[in-house]
Amino acid sequence: MKIQTFYPMPTRNQSLGEFIIENQNEFKYSSGELSRLINSIRLAAKVVNHEVNKAGLVDILGAAGDTNVQGEDQQKLDVYANEAFIKGLTNREIVCGIASEEEDHFITIKGRNEQNDNKYVVLIDPLDGSSNIDVNVSVGTIFSVYRRVTPPGTPVTLDDFLQPGNKQVAAGYIIYGTSTMIVYTTGHGVNGFTLNPAIGTYYLSHPNMQFPRTGLIYSVNEGNYVHFPQGVKDYIKYCQAEEGDRPYTSRYIGSLVSDFHRNMIKGGIYIYPNTAKDPDGKLRLLYECNPMAFIAEQAGGKASNGFQRIMDIEPSKLHQRVPFFCGSLEMVEKAESFMQKA
Ligand code: AHG
Ligand code: MN
Ligand code: MN
Repeated sequence: MKIQTFYPMPTRNQSLGEFIIENQNEFKYSSGELSRLINSIRLAAKVVNHEVNKAGLVDILGAAGDTNVQGEDQQKLDVYANEAFIKGLTNREIVCGIASEEEDHFITIKGRNEQNDNKYVVLIDPLDGSSNIDVNVSVGTIFSVYRRVTPPGTPVTLDDFLQPGNKQVAAGYIIYGTSTMIVYTTGHGVNGFTLNPAIGTYYLSHPNMQFPRTGLIYSVNEGNYVHFPQGVKDYIKYCQAEEGDRPYTSRYIGSLVSDFHRNMIKGGIYIYPNTAKDPDGKLRLLYECNPMAFIAEQAGGKASNGFQRIMDIEPSKLHQRVPFFCGSLEMVEKAESFMQKA
């Protein structure tokens, strides 16, 4: 009789669930709460993924008829994703507050007996790149986690949410792309997990992700060129100049998550600058820039507003916007040098 030998699976086949448990102790306030939080985001992401995938099939496309606090049309999937993540985080009683790009005000989460002893707040962009939904192009979700600054057991206040990015304890994104991935950091590097849709499990597919130190891709909405600050115009001309490894390639999807993800793998820079029309830029500091900046730095990249580290900006309001330069370290430093001499 032939004897069969079974070998343990290589680590690359580790599931996200196993990874969370194994790495729980790395986290300095390891009470299991943060692990449960990541776990509930992973589950909500599966629900949203299912909905995103069938977006072309059912009557879920198109504007929901509302505008959000920033005056933008809300798509139906924006609303759906917002509710899915809020419900997922609320029902499990893991966090004490949530702020969402789609909500005017932060949400206070009460515990069962009106008292909530949880320590974390979550800030979320439930659906990023929403203008791409109708055209079957990748969208994402971005999340950011902080420890509250007010005492546990009391209702959360705005101060719990208005913390600089350098206080984040975890951040990540989900990309609903050709495959669905969750990429996150708890401050010990960046790991990416790919969903096997047949069995609904995420596997560690991209351990210890690193931005190449430099790259050949620049991502910016060049349609706004005439409104860009001189430093950005000069940097774009530098990217296009025929010299050394230039001209660079221009790639712009219009979903921050997707543009960032590609640039992290291939090497590149993403820029959403201030413009004459939007003097603070378009992207939101708390829901988009801080979490992406944390991931970028943990992967050896850099994120700046052209002059200052994104994660050191003291936020003054929930829906604050900020110019954003993010990606491979040397490319961001080069863009900053153009900003600073312009
Ligand atoms: P959201 O869908 O959450 O509003 O974010 C869209 C953001 C970002 O994902 C993207 O990179 C950028 O807006 C695109 O803006 P433009 O269409 O102005 O280039
Ligand atoms: Mn967004
Ligand atoms: Mn959004």
